[in-house]
Amino acid sequence: MLIFSGEVHWEDGKVSGTVYSGEEKLTNLLVKVYEKFAWSNPLHPDIFPGLRKMEAEVVRMACTLFHGGPSSCGVMTSGGTESILMACKAYRDLAYERGIKHPEMLVPKSVHAAFDKAAHYFGLKIVHIPLTKTMQVDVQAMRRAISKNTAMLVCSAPQFPHGVMDPIEDVAKLALKYRIPFHVDACLGGFLIVFMEKAGFPLQRPFDFRVEGVTSISADTHKYGYAPKGSSVLLYSDKKYRHYQFFVAPDWQGGIYASPTMAGSRPGGIIAACWATMMHMGEDGYVEATKKIINTARFIESELRKIDDILIFGSPEVSVISVGSDTFDIYRLSNLLATKGWNLNVLQFPRSIHLCITLLHTQDGVAELFLEDVKECILEIMKDPGAKTTGVGAIYGMAQSIPDRSLVAEISHAYLDSLYNTDNPSSEKHMNGSPRHH
Ligand SMILES: Cc1ncc(COP(=O)(O)O)c(C=O)c1O
Repeated sequence: MLIFSGEVHWEDGKVSGTVYSGEEKLTNLLVKVYEKFAWSNPLHPDIFPGLRKMEAEVVRMACTLFHGGPSSCGVMTSGGTESILMACKAYRDLAYERGIKHPEMLVPKSVHAAFDKAAHYFGLKIVHIPLTKTMQVDVQAMRRAISKNTAMLVCSAPQFPHGVMDPIEDVAKLALKYRIPFHVDACLGGFLIVFMEKAGFPLQRPFDFRVEGVTSISADTHKYGYAPKGSSVLLYSDKKYRHYQFFVAPDWQGGIYASPTMAGSRPGGIIAACWATMMHMGEDGYVEATKKIINTARFIESELRKIDDILIFGSPEVSVISVGSDTFDIYRLSNLLATKGWNLNVLQFPRSIHLCITLLHTQDGVAELFLEDVKECILEIMKDPGAKTTGVGAIYGMAQSIPDRSLVAEISHAYLDSLYNTDNPSSEKHMNGSPRHH
């Protein structure tokens, strides 16, 4: 099946979509495309008809990839978080219409923090459902948590911390039985899982619109879709859900204002670059990239499993592998690996670290080098397995042990403040306290 078919033109009507399936390097291509569309804005489809077409096609290609039916639809957003925010907002408004005054969402404990953000922004209650030993959401616990206030159910495909796929079919049965919308968050691995079967690594269980009961899916083009940062898709099984997401101000003095997502004006350059990336990659390009990544992930996983004193959480089926230890503080391993140039994500509850495998790791010798470094670090650690962690690991270790979570939030506010600091910490101050200008 040719999924990226169809003649596609720029707005001058001269360049068709097939032009970029050649050798031209993706980055060079993206710079050119961005240059052409840097000042375009999909808020004005009459002025930028080509851009409108590109966005519609990105959404349609994604619907096809996730096996959406004829009524499937979607939108492009600025990233995974916005896609998630929009799905939560849509289901909140649907719940209001159904007479639910205090809507709740039921999410796995492992779900991305963007759902907590959505709850915070949109006045939803979020209920975190525990995981089983395999790090998948406990479906029975989710069933027990369903109430007359439940506005949406959520699964991840796969989840961020441990790279594990949630039991989507089982949760879909609950969604159907209790008539609750069901969102699958495939932001992280969406553009891998849709190609895994063709890449020779079929997933154990279905995850997309083929599963009856799945009403929406988020998938990030700016992750394994290889588009530049700032793009994602949110897809619905039916247009009736998307309508709850839209915003219209019919009486505004500036005209009838209709906007599909959070932003008003949106960056047309990013949409065009995303479209061009998908055209450039084509189905074959994505399948090839997926093959390399999953091959490497499976190799790293099987080799890590042979190493004493560490353990792997659940059965990671996609590109993230999460590692813990019963014998030493696992944060010591990420600290030591950092000194060798490896950047692993630090996770909590339980203490663990994960490696997210990308195309970079599929290059010759990289996986082997990583495994060698892991073994070397563990040898070093096991000289004194009880030693305390330092650095980032120590901060995480301490943060987990503080029962008052508001204290952790307060410290995090100071961290966010510091990101906007423009003082040069090394520069001397004048007597009056203002920085010296060099
Ligand atoms: C499973 C999952 N969902 C959502 C997100 C949020 O995506 P973004 O950072 O693009 O907002 C991520 C990011 O890593 C993720 O892994």
